[in-house]
Amino acid sequence: MKKRVFSGIQPTGDIHIGNYLAAIKHWVASQTELDSVFCIVDLHAITVPQETNVLKSKIREVTGLLLAAGIDPKLSTVFIQSHNSAHTELAWILNCFTPMGWMQRMTQFKDKLQEQKEQVSVGLFDYPALMAADILLYNTDIVPVGEDQKQHVELTRDIAQRFNSIYGETFKLPEPLIPETGARIMGLDDPTTKMSKSEAGSGHAINLLDPSDTIRAKVMQATTDSLREIRFDENRPGIYNLLVIYELFTGLSRPDIEARFERKGYVNLKQELAEIIVDSLRPLQSRYQELTADPTYLDSVLTEGSSRIRPLAEKTMTVVKEKVGLG
Ligand code: AMP
Ligand code: TRP
Repeated sequence: MKKRVFSGIQPTGDIHIGNYLAAIKHWVASQTELDSVFCIVDLHAITVPQETNVLKSKIREVTGLLLAAGIDPKLSTVFIQSHNSAHTELAWILNCFTPMGWMQRMTQFKDKLQEQKEQVSVGLFDYPALMAADILLYNTDIVPVGEDQKQHVELTRDIAQRFNSIYGETFKLPEPLIPETGARIMGLDDPTTKMSKSEAGSGHAINLLDPSDTIRAKVMQATTDSLREIRFDENRPGIYNLLVIYELFTGLSRPDIEARFERKGYVNLKQELAEIIVDSLRPLQSRYQELTADPTYLDSVLTEGSSRIRPLAEKTMTVVKEKVGLG
């Protein structure tokens, strides 16, 4: 039996190289060895305000990008979270087994609360319970995500453990899988903050669908420092972030990269990096254009994905309801 991988991505904002390097690239690489399920988490997206038409089109855009990046619908299952009501149903049940205190510790929520104060929705507070439901519905073994999601996967384990301790072995405990390098790609304009889809600044993130000249301009404007030496040094976040991106797109070793830029300046590094990103994203971008030329294709992949996974979720729900004594 192959191990099951489950991960999710929100259909909001523009998918960027942080999403790609930390998550999507790894999903693509493991799909032949692992039983892979990838979910477009539209119900998570509405924990913050979304425009109806934008959300709808972003769901197709993300689907197109996943396939363009190499997710093969013959090997992996791709589906939309809201197409399977078992997610919200299990989330509700898990809510009733999750102490408020556990939720209150979630750093992502605490950060958002600081920004939005009382405007923050109850859904945003409860976001991790829905994420736990996503994962636990499918007997997931491995959850490949970026560093920012590790705490949520750990909470999922705690919730599963608590449920199991009350009702006996029910849920498998999932393991987070965080890449050793690139688990947290930083903003180009401010290398002390995570590259984020919701950040407005035009020089902040490199999006997978950015035109070549936009990519070049963003890299050339990236914030660095006033030193000269090009070295992997975490205490110099700007140059370190650029070098990590370089490392991940080229697959070269750190000593090789440092040797390559010995006695060269930041401008050289940036120019070379910009071309590497442009060349790396070009095939993905043209594949995206091909895939989206036929609007019915993406919908057929998503419909097929939902029907493939629905029986798995139903099986879990039957067991859970039976154990809890519902119905
Ligand atoms: P999201 O955009 O929040 O739906 O995230 C999709 C995936 O990308 C998750 O696995 C995140 O952990 C990952 N991710 C998002 N932003 C970054 C970033 N700046 N660096 C690394 N991984 C990220
Ligand atoms: N919260 C994740 C993010 O923002 C997305 C997500 C939702 C997810 N459900 C999941 C990731 C289940 C992994 C497993 O990135």
